[in-house]
Amino acid sequence: MWGIVVAAGSGSRFGGRKQEALLEGRPLWMWGRDALLAGGAAQVVVIGTADGAPGGERRRDSVAAGLAEVPAGAELIAVHDAARPLASARLLASAAEALLAEQADGAVPVLPVVDAIKQVRGNLVTATPDRSGLAAAQTPQVFRAGALREAHARYPGEAADDAAMVEALGGRVVTVPGEREAFKVTFPEDLALARAWLEAGR
Ligand code: CTP
Ligand code: MG
Repeated sequence: MWGIVVAAGSGSRFGGRKQEALLEGRPLWMWGRDALLAGGAAQVVVIGTADGAPGGERRRDSVAAGLAEVPAGAELIAVHDAARPLASARLLASAAEALLAEQADGAVPVLPVVDAIKQVRGNLVTATPDRSGLAAAQTPQVFRAGALREAHARYPGEAADDAAMVEALGGRVVTVPGEREAFKVTFPEDLALARAWLEAGR
């Protein structure tokens, strides 16, 4: 299994390049890389840091830049956000296990949705989808290399995540239980939240 950590993007909601922000003295992207290595990835490509290949305009372009660095012989590819520094090695291992056990094309960690979800148009609520059938997806997400490459070649436009592209082309994606600490650092306060998780001994 190979890993891709996407660490490009401008961090507009964070107010800067969060990928390089330090957590216990190490940049966020390094936490993600190390988790993939510890979770079963033999090699990891990091996209969008000073030393790595540059990313692209959209997240999917950065993943594509990563795919270009992964050799054709790789059978499984994990894709992980640099902005999720506290995802554990175990999370990757469990996703890879589920993919193999269920002979799926992809496996993604998910958490139950805690808030009521509203479909809205402007300030008007148009629907409240049944929350029991909804889940919030995290990374690392693991795929059969062929399915991921084909999805990237054929899926048009930006996608919510890599799994969405694989699903759209008819691929079978299964879920594994996510981790609350695998949240995405999105806003500046989220860094303090990550420090609090570490202090609490995650
Ligand atoms: N990412 C990337 N290339 C992009 C956009 C995002 O590699 N063009 C990566 C980010 O580094 C991050 C992950 O994808 O690890 C999730 O993206 P997000 O949290 O949305 O990061 P940004 O797009 O940088 O932040 P924002 O949307 O707030 O501008
Ligand atoms: Mg973004």
